[in-house]
Amino acid sequence: MKIETERTIIRLPKSSDFEFIKNLWLDGEVMKFVGFPDGLKVSDEDIGSWILNKNPDRMRQVVEDKETGESFAETGWQEDIPYEYANGRKSASLDIKLARSHWGKGYATEILRVLTKYIFENTDIEVVFVDPNIENIAAIKLYEKIGFKKIGQPVFHNSDNMQIPITAQYYELENNEIQ
Ligand SMILES: CC(C)(COP(=O)(O)OP(=O)(O)OC[C@H]1O[C@@H](n2cnc3c(N)ncnc32)[C@H](O)[C@@H]1OP(=O)(O)O)[C@@H](O)C(=O)NCCC(=O)NCCS
Repeated sequence: MKIETERTIIRLPKSSDFEFIKNLWLDGEVMKFVGFPDGLKVSDEDIGSWILNKNPDRMRQVVEDKETGESFAETGWQEDIPYEYANGRKSASLDIKLARSHWGKGYATEILRVLTKYIFENTDIEVVFVDPNIENIAAIKLYEKIGFKKIGQPVFHNSDNMQIPITAQYYELENNEIQ
């Protein structure tokens, strides 16, 4: 799969993305709102299997800058995460992480508008959901701008492998709601 937006190419991960993914996940500024302010330390093996992407329920993509060819974001959707507000609709969770060099320039809006449209046009998924940390203002503005609607109440998350607990809020989007 390869999807083009105005300034980017969204494509499957490849082995040359290894360093980019490793550094992105190690960046505590990128990972703090998902509970890892010291960065996510993942084994080389785990990054390798993320790149190989063998699970058909998990679609993973890397985003390149069209002009420079530089990889600057990872995104994707996952059908194997339960969504308690699905109400019979086929659901998928969506995620996006950009390198700090590309924040605040409209890239995530550009990428997710095209990617959500792609998902609804090319799969049988009926609702896409996200669960940003309630303190992640950039992510919430991003999702609301695209048309995601707040669902339910904030949920507190804590686990032994998280560096800090977080409180997250569900938002969801259906095909006819993309803005
Ligand atoms: C969240 C993230 C994907 C946003 O990407 P981005 O390309 O910077 O977002 P955009 O430039 O498309 O901006 C989307 C909206 O958020 C706003 N925004 C972006 N960064 C912001 C910030 N730091 N504070 C407040 N608002 C911000 C933009 O102004 C824009 O809203 P507007 O058009 O009404 O002005 C990016 O900051 C990131 O990768 N963060 C770390 C990983 C993460 O938290 N991912 C989300 C997990 S749920």
